[in-house]
Amino acid sequence: MRSFLLPSFFLSLSLPSTLVSACLYKREDPTLPPYTYAGETGPLRWHNLTVDGKNFPYRKCATGKQQSPIDITDAVPLAVNTTTTFPPSGEFTIEDNGHSIEVTPRKPDDYKSVLGGQVYKLSQFHFHLSGEHRLRQEPFPLEAHFVHTKLDDEKKLAVIGILFDLVDTGAGDALLQSIYPKLDGLQKPVHGKREKKEKHGDALEVQMHSVNNIVDNSHIRSYSGSLTTPPCSEEVSWYVVEEPLAITVKQFNKMRKIIKFNSRVTQNDYANPPKENLLALCERA
Ligand SMILES: *[C@@H]1O[C@H](CO)[C@@H](O)[C@H](O)[C@H]1NC(C)=O
Ligand SMILES: *[C@@H]1O[C@H](CO)[C@@H](O)[C@H](O)[C@H]1NC(C)=O
Ligand SMILES: [Zn+2]
Repeated sequence: MRSFLLPSFFLSLSLPSTLVSACLYKREDPTLPPYTYAGETGPLRWHNLTVDGKNFPYRKCATGKQQSPIDITDAVPLAVNTTTTFPPSGEFTIEDNGHSIEVTPRKPDDYKSVLGGQVYKLSQFHFHLSGEHRLRQEPFPLEAHFVHTKLDDEKKLAVIGILFDLVDTGAGDALLQSIYPKLDGLQKPVHGKREKKEKHGDALEVQMHSVNNIVDNSHIRSYSGSLTTPPCSEEVSWYVVEEPLAITVKQFNKMRKIIKFNSRVTQNDYANPPKENLLALCERA
């Protein structure tokens, strides 16, 4: 599965690669339209982006019926048999991929999780600012997405969403503390350029013990949703952890400078889903 990390791997596949590459936030594919978080290429227009005026590779962003993120309420079922057994700390690489700060384990095989009784392994984690899922309508300043692929079927995706809440005392969560010193040196990719894999990211040691701890000790709500980025593909199993981790004002301000804003609009009401995605309904009105 090392090849999973190679950009050339994505080029050699057609449809599934679109799903996987976007989900994993790899270097932008020049054959796909660039997307942003504002204006004409922002979330309300993703479904209508095209490079040739004929193909709309992100149409699911409007026509999908199980889109993410959502407001997490008591209507969303509690997850069963869900745990992470990550090494307490380990070697990762970190990069600014143009949409987020993405952190990739050097040895994904060491980062297994049981999610809803199925065994997965961690591909990478990245951040959204503001947080994408709401918790009973409350927004959070930051959310980390731990993107997993199923051990026996790598096309099946599951994501653990962990929220961060601002604190005015302490040093912030250990994971954030461990990536903080690297944040200043990250270079953004040039759109349309594929770099060699060796050049991706800086090496660093990341503390993961607080992730194991919060996953084991918090309520986790699980639902079937989508990627929150184009192409908004569905059948992503979500595990949203209710108890937040801590982020200091200093950490938040630094991440805000780098990530800017990369949070998708809240999607359908889980308890009362419309027959169509809200965006598709709006377009027709
Ligand atoms: C969608 O894109 C097409 C082609 O680029 C454009 O003609 C059309 O006006 C767009 N529709 C909306 C609703 O933005
Ligand atoms: C949880 O899932 C794992 C992996 O499928 C399985 O081995 C284990 O027996 C399950 N435990 C419970 C309590 O269901
Ligand atoms: Zn994400």
